[in-house]
Amino acid sequence: MVLDLTKYIAAIPDYPEKGVVFRDISPLMADGAAYREATNKIVEYAKSKDVEMIVGPEARGFIVGCPVAYDLGVGFAPARKKGKLPRETVEAKYALEYGESALYMHKDAVKPGQRVLVTDDLLATGGTIAATIELVEKLGGIVVGTAFFIELDDLKGRNKIEDYDIFSLMNY
Ligand code: PRP
Ligand code: HPA
Repeated sequence: MVLDLTKYIAAIPDYPEKGVVFRDISPLMADGAAYREATNKIVEYAKSKDVEMIVGPEARGFIVGCPVAYDLGVGFAPARKKGKLPRETVEAKYALEYGESALYMHKDAVKPGQRVLVTDDLLATGGTIAATIELVEKLGGIVVGTAFFIELDDLKGRNKIEDYDIFSLMNY
């Protein structure tokens, strides 16, 4: 089936603040055929990269990455916010509009040399995905690609990860 996936992305003006148009993937996830089609496209991309492991940041990176991992029969490892992972972790800090945040992964989440696809719902400034890539590389993984449902072109996130292959289903 060929669906126009953009029909399943809601645009919310002035959220979370005035002047921002928020792109919401929840209508896409709520439609079985659309969610499957978006997932299948990322599965095909992952197959072209011989992916052995998927890593996605909390929380929406899981929505994209887990069904891809299931379909490929490979593992999924989460990058999580502070205080969520119970065992020894590695940390990567990243800038927010105001201040700083950090993501963490378990030290054994990725094996050295493993070919990793990093997934998220949306590429905006690129801070989240750059931090996730940093974590994978600290663990010795090889980031063979990144995949998103949506890329917000104006925010130029791809400049932050210019050394990596980027696969986006929709651009705004
Ligand atoms: C959103 C989105 C991406 C990130 C993109 O996540 O899901 O992960 O922001 O922005 P960036 O490219 O500027 O880093 P958010 O931090 O809102 O967390 P959530 O997935 O837990 O809602
Ligand atoms: N939609 C969803 N998440 C986001 C956005 C957006 O437009 N911008 C930054 N994170």
